[in-house]
Amino acid sequence: ESAGEPRNIVVGRIGRVGTITLDRPKALNALNVELMEEVVAAALAFDADPEIGAILLSGSERAFAAGADIKEMAAQDYAAMAVGDWFSAWDRFAGLRTPVVAAVSGYALGGGCELAMMCDVLIASETAKFGQPEITLGTIPGIGGSQRLTRAIGKAKAMDLVLTGRMMDAEEAERAGLVSRVVPADELDATAAEVAATIAGMSLPVAYAAKEAVARSFETSLAEGVRFERRTFHATFALEDRTSGMQAFLAKERPTFQHR
Ligand code: HXC
Repeated sequence: ESAGEPRNIVVGRIGRVGTITLDRPKALNALNVELMEEVVAAALAFDADPEIGAILLSGSERAFAAGADIKEMAAQDYAAMAVGDWFSAWDRFAGLRTPVVAAVSGYALGGGCELAMMCDVLIASETAKFGQPEITLGTIPGIGGSQRLTRAIGKAKAMDLVLTGRMMDAEEAERAGLVSRVVPADELDATAAEVAATIAGMSLPVAYAAKEAVARSFETSLAEGVRFERRTFHATFALEDRTSGMQAFLAKERPTFQHR
């Protein structure tokens, strides 16, 4: 199980925020299998820790991640990819209950764009560049890009990006609805950390429920989604944090959540 110290990421924590920084600078944080396993293991450990209320995922200034590792993939054949079910481990990242904030600077291409789209709140630097260039390599997105990009920005732009492989800058990405906020490069880290800390200060079971309810909208009909939301909303009335949150409002005080 324990694989020792990760070699491609830096893991830390600031208060109730668990931080994961992609750290493979020589390859612009290309997502090789080892890095994937390290990110997934770190994220699952945070997810299992009730002292963690949000995860902050970042890369470097130059690259969030420039895609799956082309050197590693180049030698594979169909049987190896299919039997090994390559990249399916990322599905566990997408299934995290803890809200994940992505801080994206520089390149978020291919698997890097797909990883950013698996996060819940995507804060981009003005320098961010998004794209799904797989077609220029003779392949297609394989970590959810064709699905999540289309749901995020619609068919017109998703087809444009996936079929031409072109990059989209931060301004276009915000206009298209791919990112939550765009900030100047020198404000990225502070803004993303502040967003993560804000989320981590909320009631943990309520933050889980809020994420789950929004995520459900991608999986189901409107009527089913609203029904799910209504039941989950009712269920928050079983929580101490709901009681104390409303009492704090009425007393004109700041709420302090027990995260249970
Ligand atoms: C492996 C990568 C890499 C990648 C960059 N590098 N991207 N290595 N896999 N995806 C390496 C380069 O080989 C180079 O190593 C070093 O990082 C610096 O990159 P340069 O190309 O020299 O930098 P620059 O000229 O600034 O160009 C930056 C770039 C370019 C535009 C981001 O690197 C690029 O186009 N990268 C590939 C982007 C891509 O196609 N991504 C999609 C991958 S497929 P050396 O050793 O030469 O210094 C994918 C599929 C996922 O993600 C789904 C599953 C199929």
